[in-house]
Amino acid sequence: PLKLGIMASGNGSNFEAIAQAIADGQINAQIQVLIYNNPSAKAPVRAAKRGVEAVLLNHRDYKSRQVFDTKIVQTLQQYNVEWVILAGWMRVLTPVLIDAFADKIINIHPSLLPSFKGINAVEQALQAGVKIAGCTVHLVSLEVDSGPILIQAAVPVLPDDTVETLHARIQIEEHRILPQAIALAAAGQGSRGAGE
Ligand code: GAR
Repeated sequence: PLKLGIMASGNGSNFEAIAQAIADGQINAQIQVLIYNNPSAKAPVRAAKRGVEAVLLNHRDYKSRQVFDTKIVQTLQQYNVEWVILAGWMRVLTPVLIDAFADKIINIHPSLLPSFKGINAVEQALQAGVKIAGCTVHLVSLEVDSGPILIQAAVPVLPDDTVETLHARIQIEEHRILPQAIALAAAGQGSRGAGE
């Protein structure tokens, strides 16, 4: 199985979707560790229920993004992580982390990239008045919210939508395409004869 490290900042519904897909046999992978950066995040509560170890690395305790990412890399290596999944990770990554796991970091973003990069993507979509919104799973490269797109899904924007209602509709699709993308990565890894 592919050894995953998941990084989350908040609710962790995408963490849950990945854990469930593994439990259901849809992904040949195991979650080695959850890294979270906010003490009040719900993601570690979900991890505990699934028997997954959770490590709090609070960015506020580190003097630069590079020092923070160095600690993240050490932690991921300590848990023998092969692929990193950003499941609602709200910090910008530095080359320290991106180069340590080159082409093995997957991100989920709540827009149809390259539209609406950065924070508040759902709000940006509403403000732009687009009629179709969605989400993107992509490999992480050095620029924020860029890198090869793996899967996208679209949803309609309805006339009375708020950020909350539109985000909820997008998240249904996130929970489908993020596990799907990881399954593809796991299958690709297996076919290269890793023997695991
Ligand atoms: C998801 O909608 C994800 O796309 C978004 O945060 C949410 C986390 O939800 N990520 C970003 O905005 C990254 N810039 P979750 O904690 O319930 O999985």
